[in-house]
Amino acid sequence: MKTDEKIQETLARLRPYFHAADFAFAERVWTTPQEVYLNRLRAIGFENQGIVLDAGCGYGQWSLALATLNDRVEAIDVHAGRLMAADALLKAANCHAARVQYGSVAEPPFEANTFDAILAYSVVHATPWPQVLRRFYALLRPRGRAYLTVNGLGWYLRYFIEAPRSGPGHDPRWLAACALMNTVSFEDHQRFDPRSGMIITPEALRAEAEAIGFKVLGAGADGATDLAGVAPRAFFQGEYHGQVGVHEILLERP
Ligand SMILES: C[S@@+](CC[C@H](N)C(=O)[O-])C[C@H]1O[C@@H](n2cnc3c(N)ncnc32)[C@H](O)[C@@H]1O
Repeated sequence: MKTDEKIQETLARLRPYFHAADFAFAERVWTTPQEVYLNRLRAIGFENQGIVLDAGCGYGQWSLALATLNDRVEAIDVHAGRLMAADALLKAANCHAARVQYGSVAEPPFEANTFDAILAYSVVHATPWPQVLRRFYALLRPRGRAYLTVNGLGWYLRYFIEAPRSGPGHDPRWLAACALMNTVSFEDHQRFDPRSGMIITPEALRAEAEAIGFKVLGAGADGATDLAGVAPRAFFQGEYHGQVGVHEILLERP
């Protein structure tokens, strides 16, 4: 059986275990051509690195791309169902260079100075992110890179106004409202509801990273950084109603 067929068969087998909206996400990311992910990784210089961390791996499509371009991948997430699915899908894709395990980015199960690169795509806005940035800094080897994408206000505004993919198990308007509460609550008491995210502005993200000691190699809307001239595809809107949507930052530990 061809790899693509094995992946489709695995997706079909996994479907009954997930809410429809959650599973639509899995199908979307696994039917997006791998070349799109590979191109983004080339654009940010995540190629020919040694050990790479896929922090908050979700269904594992980035892990596959990272394993194609680098020596070895450690993939962690806190969602047991997604970990099971990621593991099965990576096996179906014949990927042996990625290991999937439970782990929080706030307390990652690795020693300091372990990684040459860390990717956290659409993850840290649902975590105590300044602490997570400090953890990433410690986990990286000197000259190691971290690449993060996070949500600005525009992302939640769109969720509130358009309520995309609303359905059982997925209430975008509640997620948006919760994100506003989370933002205030985290700023005031470092507490938040991890079922949604919070707003992180580009300015706050950059300031925190620089205060930790990171050098900023690139920052902008999702997909804006292009160190290799490969014109990566943006996955999300950089702006919505004049507000920052999904934005990214590429960091280096000196
Ligand atoms: C929007 S999904 C993105 C998944 C994947 N990075 C991608 O781009 O498809 C966010 C993921 O972060 C995971 N996550 C949330 N909090 C986490 C934490 N503290 N540690 C590790 N993963 C976390 C969620 O379980 C979820 O799979």
